[in-house]
Amino acid sequence: MEIRFLGHAAFEISDGDTRVLIDPFLAPENPAAVARPEEVEPTHILLTHGHADHMTHVVEVAKRTGATCVCIVELARWLSEQGVSDVADPNLGGTVEFEWGWVKLVPAFHTNTLPDGRVIGLSAGLVIGIGATTIYHLGDTALFGDLKLIAERTPVNVALVPIGGHYTMDQQDAVTAAELIDADTVIPMHYDTFPPVEADPERFKRDVEASPRTSSEVVILKPGESHTP
Ligand code: NI
Ligand code: MN
Repeated sequence: MEIRFLGHAAFEISDGDTRVLIDPFLAPENPAAVARPEEVEPTHILLTHGHADHMTHVVEVAKRTGATCVCIVELARWLSEQGVSDVADPNLGGTVEFEWGWVKLVPAFHTNTLPDGRVIGLSAGLVIGIGATTIYHLGDTALFGDLKLIAERTPVNVALVPIGGHYTMDQQDAVTAAELIDADTVIPMHYDTFPPVEADPERFKRDVEASPRTSSEVVILKPGESHTP
């Protein structure tokens, strides 16, 4: 099992023949991305919400590959309207099961809009069970206390945590988030893509690893790099 960071909030999780693409915002629109939309071959695509920096390339990639998409119901309906044929549409709290594992939508304190600007309510976080590993992609959330509840309900091996601030929790709040989740491994994301989300991942790593409230290890990935839990 391998977690590849594609830049910003985009990741690809590979396990055997399964390739799960999360929040496809790829090159060249994503200045931090190493992969272009024609260079990914997902079997499944998961979305945290409808903002452009999370799904610019979802329709293009889903139509080319036939990948199964999973996202919150209003966004799922929009994907279907764009001609994406294989869409699962849970709401918060819902779990979608596959032969390789499952995806659960959990709360994220962040807005959500469609590409035409229509407001559609809430964003999601994604708790993903793949093989024996549980991965929690926090989406664009602000800090909130139920991160602890979510991680108690499903202990997290790898947490993908935004640290860039401005549109999400900032890196000080992300240290507290890491303490609440207490994953084995934390991978920072959603920083240094654009000027408003600059952060210092090395300092984030030092702060988390110095905390007495968690034993999480922080793994900093550059776009294109991978981590094997
Ligand atoms: Ni967003
Ligand atoms: Mn974002």
